[in-house]
Amino acid sequence: WKRFLQVTGSITLVTIATGTAFYYVAQKDRTPGVQLPHDPTKKTLVILGSGWGATSLLNSLETADYNVIVISPKNYFLFTPLLPSVAVGTLSPRSILQPTRYVTRHKKRQVTVIEASATDVDPATKTVTFADTSEIQGLVSTTTIPYDYLVFAVGAEVQTFNIPGVRENACFMKELEDAEKMQRRFLDCLESAAFPGQSTEEIKRLLHMVVVGGGPTGVELSGELHDFLEQDLRSWYPELAENVRISLVEALPSVLPMFSKQLIDYTESTFKEAKIDILTKTMVKEIKDKSVVLQMPDKTIVEVPCGLVVWAAGNTLRKVTRDLMSKFPDVQTNRRGITVDECLRMEGSNGSIFAIGDCSATSYAPTAQVASQEGAYLARILSQIAKKDELDARLTALQTASEPEAKEEREQIQKRLAKLEKLRPFKYSHQGSLAYIGSDKAIADLPFFNGNFASGGIATYLFWRSVYLSTLFSVRNRTLVATDWLYVKLFGRDVSRE
Ligand code: FAD
Ligand code: NAI
Repeated sequence: WKRFLQVTGSITLVTIATGTAFYYVAQKDRTPGVQLPHDPTKKTLVILGSGWGATSLLNSLETADYNVIVISPKNYFLFTPLLPSVAVGTLSPRSILQPTRYVTRHKKRQVTVIEASATDVDPATKTVTFADTSEIQGLVSTTTIPYDYLVFAVGAEVQTFNIPGVRENACFMKELEDAEKMQRRFLDCLESAAFPGQSTEEIKRLLHMVVVGGGPTGVELSGELHDFLEQDLRSWYPELAENVRISLVEALPSVLPMFSKQLIDYTESTFKEAKIDILTKTMVKEIKDKSVVLQMPDKTIVEVPCGLVVWAAGNTLRKVTRDLMSKFPDVQTNRRGITVDECLRMEGSNGSIFAIGDCSATSYAPTAQVASQEGAYLARILSQIAKKDELDARLTALQTASEPEAKEEREQIQKRLAKLEKLRPFKYSHQGSLAYIGSDKAIADLPFFNGNFASGGIATYLFWRSVYLSTLFSVRNRTLVATDWLYVKLFGRDVSRE
């Protein structure tokens, strides 16, 4: 009894301590303190976007240095790596969103958050025009504001190559709405296939899921779809399970070209076991209402019936980015995005515009990892620039003063300015590539000393989960995602169609 009481007592104490700590952290998150108001003597920093680049910048930015304004059509940050999990109902949409105000309300100085799309940037007048593009609008829905510094972090949009039928008939996997739409359509295919009297041919069509693009998005989505089919479809639609087919179409000779050869082979063999067909050297030429038109490796054209097509064929620039680039026709000629210098300043903008993430053209891949490191770097640079601007202003004020103290101060400021003048260039530190491939397996290419460590399997999957859980920006999101994972393990995915 004594031993039993000791053990239960210790467990109770640990539970109470953990619970209290957790409650304290959650409450601290919930109750932001009083913030400094905007200061007319400070410069205005406008940030366009609320994705990986912008949110990482906001997290690290010393907002007391500027009057900060964030403009984005989404008033939240979306944790894209877990988006395919939302598409099949493993995670609920809210779990991977973080409202931007949850970040900005904890900053030292107030940050203005505006839900709007930037439609034009005028570098000559240093102004941004933006419009409220949401469903409900007030009497004012478009306006123009000035900036001293602009951070352009609007990401990219889906590349369709103007292939007929893509926009009309396929689902994308870029925004939250895309994942929700895909889930609705996917479940609709299942329910329509279960409709009484459906012919076998029609059932097979409805249950043929085609994923276009063998990059990480397409591969992860195929893996997630497979998990749903294996873990839930067999339970809730046993009569349909045998008719389901997943095809992954890729124009190049292999999937995942950015991963090492052994991991590509591992993924291909895992997909083979999971009965996911990989069609390489195959190009989608058209997407119709009930089929997809493919150009096969031998150049023949075939039309394959299917119920759902998900388009994950890469990125292209947004119109607002192309428009901005067109204002610097001599230097902004890279079709991949905005050309920046080693400190992420847009070429041609005289240091007043910075571009980070997928909208910029650098030697790095367009990934969350790059965008977030660029955001954190820019926070440091902007802090240095703020100090320099402050000293510049003080120097101007002292310009005409002739007292010996003023002369001495001028000299000191000039010395400090010389140090601040030089900005340290951005250096990307690659932490490795990770991808989930379904069947509770993931692949990882990790830098190891001067080489590379490649691993794949269930242990890598647990590593994948722990990495993403720790990368989520808040305790709230970590709790929600961990709870969703536990829920699905216990009760399975929800198959109700909203
Ligand atoms: P985004 O994160 O896309 O943010 C752009 C922001 O700009 C958004 O908030 C958007 O609403 C806003 N915006 C758009 N238009 C305007 C406008 N006109 N005015 C103002 N704001 C605007 N990368 C990895 O490293 N690892 C992964 O595991 C990974 N998984 C991914 C999974 C999926 C399904 C997808 C789609 C991508 C994944 N990526 C991953 C890539 C990663 O998401 C991008 O590289 C990253 O989002 C780029 O960050 P960003 O800030 O440039 O753009
Ligand atoms: P992607 O550009 O990496 O891959 C798209 C693929 O679609 C290409 O391989 C292309 O050959 C193929 N394709 C294009 N048109 C086609 C057609 N008509 N028919 C057949 N195939 C066609 O795009 P993705 O996967 O969306 O990734 C975008 C960026 O996000 C990449 O930089 C990627 O590294 C990153 N990302 C990283 C992830 C990770 O690290 N786990 C997960 C998802 C994305």
